[in-house]
Amino acid sequence: MLDLSHSVDDVVRYNLESSGYSNYDVIQCSIDMPPILYNSIPGIVMCHNVIQHTPSVEKTAHALYKIVGTGGEFVFNCYPKNDQGILRKIRFHIIYKGIRSILSKMPFLVILIYARLMGVIRLIPFVGTVCEKLNFCVQGDVPNTKDFLDKIKRRYKATVLNTFDCYGSHEFQHHKTEKEIKQLVSELQKNPKKVLNMDKYFSRPTPIGCALRIFK
Ligand SMILES: C[S@@+](CC[C@H](N)C(=O)[O-])C[C@H]1O[C@@H](n2cnc3c(N)ncnc32)[C@H](O)[C@@H]1O
Repeated sequence: MLDLSHSVDDVVRYNLESSGYSNYDVIQCSIDMPPILYNSIPGIVMCHNVIQHTPSVEKTAHALYKIVGTGGEFVFNCYPKNDQGILRKIRFHIIYKGIRSILSKMPFLVILIYARLMGVIRLIPFVGTVCEKLNFCVQGDVPNTKDFLDKIKRRYKATVLNTFDCYGSHEFQHHKTEKEIKQLVSELQKNPKKVLNMDKYFSRPTPIGCALRIFK
């Protein structure tokens, strides 16, 4: 498990220890320079929801693909750039980028207050949905539970976490077009038969958790 943040010191270790597995290493590093030998992992190198937060998506993808061994695969996803049409342009370039450019420079507490406020607003029927559609906040997917109060709590927590994550917590946050990702994949693997999930990955809405699989 590779991660840049200090969460590797406690949260990650705690989660891994309680998972029951013991054959893992936790390494604090930047994934664009993984301290791992080239061609040394014949299994899966998985990069879920991280590549867009590194300085260069392309450089990181090449670096991670290099450590995959023959028969192994590199699995990744990246934030899509969804700015076609006037409404999406306004949502992405004006609302999302505008809020992020201000909030990401604010102190931790200000970002947290914004995220918590959005956590509450997102719960208001119609108003909350409109706020998310306009890109003022991100709730994301919340598992369906029968208990009404539990569902409300989960929705609030998901909105606070995802809004904080999206608008304030990362130095880099790249969004890539379909063309850019296809170009990157073709640089990594020339044989299209060794690339799985292309159609599913670029379908909209992308199925939850869907990632590109590039075999070596
Ligand atoms: C949105 S979280 C995703 C966490 C987890 N993979 C998931 O899917 O829930 C992004 C993570 O990327 C890590 N990160 C950001 N830049 C990084 C880098 N250059 N190298 C390694 N990890 C990085 C952050 O510390 C954070 O844990």
